[in-house]
Amino acid sequence: MTAEISKGNLEARVKINTGDEFEKLGHAFNNMAERISKGRDFLEEKIAQATKELSEANQELQSLDKLKSDFLANMSHELRSPLTVIRGGIDYLNRSLTIEDNRGYIEIIDKNLARLIHLVSDLFDFTKIEAKKVEWSFKQENLSILIQEVIEIISPLAVDKKIAINYENPGDVIVEFDLERIEQVMVNLIENAIKFSDWETEIRIKLEKGEEDITVSVKDLGIGIPEENLETIFDKFSTVPSGSKSKNEGTGLGLAICKAIVDAHGGMIWAESVKGVSSTFFFTLPKRRS
Ligand SMILES: Nc1ncnc2c1ncn2[C@@H]1O[C@H](COP(=O)(O)OP(=O)(O)OP(=O)(O)O)[C@@H](O)[C@H]1O
Ligand SMILES: [Mg+2]
Repeated sequence: MTAEISKGNLEARVKINTGDEFEKLGHAFNNMAERISKGRDFLEEKIAQATKELSEANQELQSLDKLKSDFLANMSHELRSPLTVIRGGIDYLNRSLTIEDNRGYIEIIDKNLARLIHLVSDLFDFTKIEAKKVEWSFKQENLSILIQEVIEIISPLAVDKKIAINYENPGDVIVEFDLERIEQVMVNLIENAIKFSDWETEIRIKLEKGEEDITVSVKDLGIGIPEENLETIFDKFSTVPSGSKSKNEGTGLGLAICKAIVDAHGGMIWAESVKGVSSTFFFTLPKRRS
């Protein structure tokens, strides 16, 4: 019986009818096994009940989370239109004003309005993806050309800081992706690279074909990212505190949006960095989307 119990069989009992200490010992063992077995059943029942409660609570949280995402997606959409109208008005005022004093105020309003519009549209994009309200448009496109075009669009920002952008690619790379969304990823990554770099440095963008995936990397020679932040920067609203030195006025949604987009393509996104020397952001797109 002890051998059985030690194997985990708590139902094992022993029968000894010798009328002496052995019989008493046998009874004592049986009682003990009975108690242990009841205790185990009781615990199992408790665990099953707790698991059920947890799963119910989890479901409730998920539906609350969805409600929140839906609400934010709708709200940010509603917020965008009046903001754009205000911006138009400010532009008009800016052009028609002559008194220099007032122009200063207009500039402050305009700068903050730009930030607000940036925040609201990032919030709109992120919550829309999170609430699974995005209609993806996956098509065979030339990634090589898309990256070239994004570089051209962004180059004025780089020129402002005398930053050179180098682009290495193996020629045409045709792969299935959502053009507008991957463009957004590239814009976010290159904007960050410029924002967190010093003047007169260099950004290296590379497109490589692997066996299973295409890998894109964006490397800058900027402030770098501390090791402990390499993963958290992809969380929503997450910024590295020391990053504020380079006048970072972002909201920390850019990389969260990139991650959500790359995830939806079945790819991966990550960062590597040598603090104070360089940061490299990588993302992959599978050659075959499942
Ligand atoms: N190339 C980079 N070099 C150094 N730090 C970076 C780089 N890219 C991102 N980071 C760090 O990661 C944080 C998150 O980046 P993310 O793009 O999500 O937000 P942001 O640029 O601050 O704001 P947003 O993109 O919403 O305008 C940044 O605030 C910065 O601290
Ligand atoms: Mg950013």
